Amino acid sequence: MRINDQHYRTIWVKENDPGTVCIIDQRNLPHEFVIEELKTLQDFVTAIRDMHVRGAPLIGGTAAYGLYIAAREAPEGLGFETYIEQAVIQLRNTRPTAVDLFNALERVLSALKEGTTKSEKVARAFQTANELVDESAEHCRLIGQHGLEIIKEIAEKKGGQPVNILTHCNAGWLACVDYGTATSPVYAAHDAGIAVHVWVDETRPRNQGARITAFELLNHGVPHTVIPDNTGGHLMQHGMVDLVIVGTDRTTKSGDVANKIGTYLKALAAHDNGVPFYVTLPSSTFDWTIRDGVKEIPIEQRNQDEVRFIQGLADGKITKVLLTPTESPAVNYGFDVTPARLVTGLITERGICAANESAILQLYPEAV
Ligand code: MRU
Repeated sequence: MRINDQHYRTIWVKENDPGTVCIIDQRNLPHEFVIEELKTLQDFVTAIRDMHVRGAPLIGGTAAYGLYIAAREAPEGLGFETYIEQAVIQLRNTRPTAVDLFNALERVLSALKEGTTKSEKVARAFQTANELVDESAEHCRLIGQHGLEIIKEIAEKKGGQPVNILTHCNAGWLACVDYGTATSPVYAAHDAGIAVHVWVDETRPRNQGARITAFELLNHGVPHTVIPDNTGGHLMQHGMVDLVIVGTDRTTKSGDVANKIGTYLKALAAHDNGVPFYVTLPSSTFDWTIRDGVKEIPIEQRNQDEVRFIQGLADGKITKVLLTPTESPAVNYGFDVTPARLVTGLITERGICAANESAILQLYPEAV
């Protein structure tokens, strides 16, 4: 993706320095664009846990490189295995909901185990992490190509009038390695000359929509409008939303979708108003081991201060201000689960399918 005419991915290995992985620190976007260098396992743990990076596919890519860096810093010989086991535990404990984290760690760990010497293990971990991020970017690109067909069809029915797409949180290129999941069809449509306009949910409490999705769309030149989280239902009742496209942090085998808190309410409003509700995901975001999303997906609870305080730019400085009465407690569930019955379809790198087990398994027969 481009920022000021320069192409970026969200994560990359520093040129001529395989011990340094660069990320875009998202905490102060859109006001500060900062590239951070991660060099130690602890740097990776902090970056994921404290949301310097975020979004399911990017969390996966960061964890993959984190385990590679852990292998580099692990002692030779007997202590190596124990060091790696501890590293996996630390990385797993950063964020509980996005399944890409666990899938990426599994993949790098099993590649690493195939090596016999430390240097072989490090090399395998490095190769696998590189393959994983390249594959993740390609999957997002393909999601865009499949989703484009849906937008094209609506645009034709509207006789070229802008297609109004509502999205929640940030499932854009900054949540992934490149392209995004929910935004990938939007960028593909915009680049194909189809008129699109995006309603961007601000996405309290961390405002990933207002801060990050808006920043991305602005940089790509896509017309958009930021809306308070509770505006979507009203827009849908008045025919101002043609479709909803969101991402996901974990989708079950039966099509239940965990995504940023508030997604479920958008799905209910879409259902009530006959607005198509699509979920975009690469295969790394499926959890093939569970069926019942509401009962089985672990929901992250974050610090209540993310609700009590709000961050923005004041006098040219990033500042946090208290929003609530000092003594009022707050609660901060990071995600909710949208049941499959409210999902019109899943847009994956292999194509589009209904949100039910048999349709999903037709696309992914190896997951039976
Ligand atoms: O808490 P976050 O910012 O990591 O949550 C991100 C989301 O909920 C995204 O919508 C989801 O990860 C899909 S990202 C392609």
